[in-house]
Amino acid sequence: MIDQFLKSGSNQRRDDFGGSIENRARFLLEVVQAVTSAVGPGKVGIRLSPVTPANDAFDPDPQPLFDYVVRELAAFGLAYIHVIEGATGGPRELPERPFDYTGLRRAYRAAAGKGAWMVNNGLDKNLAQQVLADGADLVAFGRPFIGNPDLVERLRKGKPLVESDRGTWYGGGAKGYTDYPALKNT
Ligand SMILES: Cc1cc2nc3c(=O)[nH]c(=O)nc-3n(C[C@H](O)[C@H](O)[C@H](O)COP(=O)(O)O)c2cc1C
Repeated sequence: MIDQFLKSGSNQRRDDFGGSIENRARFLLEVVQAVTSAVGPGKVGIRLSPVTPANDAFDPDPQPLFDYVVRELAAFGLAYIHVIEGATGGPRELPERPFDYTGLRRAYRAAAGKGAWMVNNGLDKNLAQQVLADGADLVAFGRPFIGNPDLVERLRKGKPLVESDRGTWYGGGAKGYTDYPALKNT
């Protein structure tokens, strides 16, 4: 819902929550204000997806929008900001929609001083190490954790990874979803 407010492809409002970047970001910032007031900013993280075109929530000009968003978020002292690089579950680069993730991180750090920066999307061990060397603080893995409940141990030991079966994703049951064995059981 926050993403739908942020992006002009989905936000068709004509009130204080639509139109300008400041207006489209208002809902996000009010939510963050409310949640951080209730539980403390150190317990709140946010995930941003500048170019994922999910559910028509796309923006033709995401750079100034998300640069503004992270500069505004900098004031809260959040636990982390998590950025999906590219289209979630898809390509990390979208030639038709280039985005400067390093610039985004710098904009945040310049405003926040500090603050954990997490990235994900299509990472393997090498790419994750590269992303960390380039300046991210944390990496996140999604799909690899489905087939490999002991993913961290496998990465640490250089063990092969199991490819999970897409046919059982979103299935609502354990089969092929949370029942892949750990290494010691294989
Ligand atoms: C089965 C499945 C369920 C997912 N559910 C969500 C979700 O509820 N919300 C969300 O923002 N992303 C969801 N994602 C996307 C992942 O969080 C992640 O962004 C994506 O898989 C890319 O990261 P990866 O290459 O490490 O898997 C889901 C992905 C998978 C495979």
